Amino acid sequence: MKKVSSTRSTNMALLNGIESTQELLDAQAHVWNQTFNYINSMSLKCAVQLGIPDAIHRHGAPLTLSQLADVLSINKTKSDGLFRLMRILVQSKFFDKVKALSGEEEAYCLTRASRLLVRDEPLSMETFVVAMVDPIFVDPFHHVGEWFGDDHPSPFFTKNGRNVWDYAGVEQSFNQLFNEAMATDARLVTGILVQECKQVFEGLETMVDVGGGTGIVARGVAAAFPGLKCVVLDLPHVVAGLEGSEKLSFVGGDMFEFIPHANAVFLKWILHDWSDEECVSILKKCKEAIAGSNKNGKKVIIVDMIVGDEREEDKTTETKLLFDSMMMAALTGKERSEKEWANLFYTSGFQNYNITPYPLGLRSVMEVFP
Ligand SMILES: C[S@@+](CC[C@H](N)C(=O)[O-])C[C@H]1O[C@@H](n2cnc3c(N)ncnc32)[C@H](O)[C@@H]1O
Repeated sequence: MKKVSSTRSTNMALLNGIESTQELLDAQAHVWNQTFNYINSMSLKCAVQLGIPDAIHRHGAPLTLSQLADVLSINKTKSDGLFRLMRILVQSKFFDKVKALSGEEEAYCLTRASRLLVRDEPLSMETFVVAMVDPIFVDPFHHVGEWFGDDHPSPFFTKNGRNVWDYAGVEQSFNQLFNEAMATDARLVTGILVQECKQVFEGLETMVDVGGGTGIVARGVAAAFPGLKCVVLDLPHVVAGLEGSEKLSFVGGDMFEFIPHANAVFLKWILHDWSDEECVSILKKCKEAIAGSNKNGKKVIIVDMIVGDEREEDKTTETKLLFDSMMMAALTGKERSEKEWANLFYTSGFQNYNITPYPLGLRSVMEVFP
């Protein structure tokens, strides 16, 4: 965009702290960008709802706009809308535009990000997107201001009158959607975890995956390490009806009450759900669980983000802070800096810890020793 030549005299109404017309217009553009940023998420939601990644994937070649409109069976009078939806999704890097095989016309193809949204691909994140942009998680953001003035633990609670876990306990469709959303992430990271972080699991004989959902990680870890048996502890409505195996069992219960004894406790995406006080209670229960085992190699293994790395890219920091805001809106949790993690470990009575930074993209693996 052409820059406006700028002096203070070109606009007498400049605000305090804004030195030039250009700065004024840049500030306005920034306000616009951030005001409408949610439209990126909503456009992504629409793409997934319409099944656009699946349609392009099934076709096996780039699709022109008219081909896409045909396969999606949309109302033909809305094809200009489809063009504009695709334009913003190209901008946000979910699709690319290339020459169609048939000739001059342009056509849409998948990018690496939209490949992850193809429904039947083994590592599909489609359900994660569907769940996270569902009104159940978006609506609490309309209540954050109200929550600052009330006594509820989270904006989710302010909106729904109960916390996420109690809500999942009574709303079966939400329970299923949430558990499947978590399972998509578990499928994506388990292979990487057992390949790239072998040393974390080697030598363990028993491990309990606390809040382990439907058991994808525990099943994968148990399969990768022949001498290791795993238990998944999760709330009764999560593990109801799940079948274990010789190397995997499910226990319904409350981690604040009791954690089955094991060499190691595994906590993936658990502690970021909870406040510092709640984390200390959980970690103390973990300590009791590993103290009850009589083997060496006792530890707690944590998979979560660490914020505050000044060397990382802006987008990485932004994504971590978006997660942090999500934890505040939906739960009582937060994303933590290394110092905050260390405080939790020492307050809960652990002696030391080791961090493997970023084997899992934005998340690190922390091993905490009694
Ligand atoms: C964010 S999910 C993470 C699931 C899984 N660890 C993963 O990363 O895919 C948090 C899990 O903690 C479970 N949870 C919540 N409160 C719990 C409690 N009091 N005791 C045991 N599990 C609990 C939830 O049901 C859910 O499965």
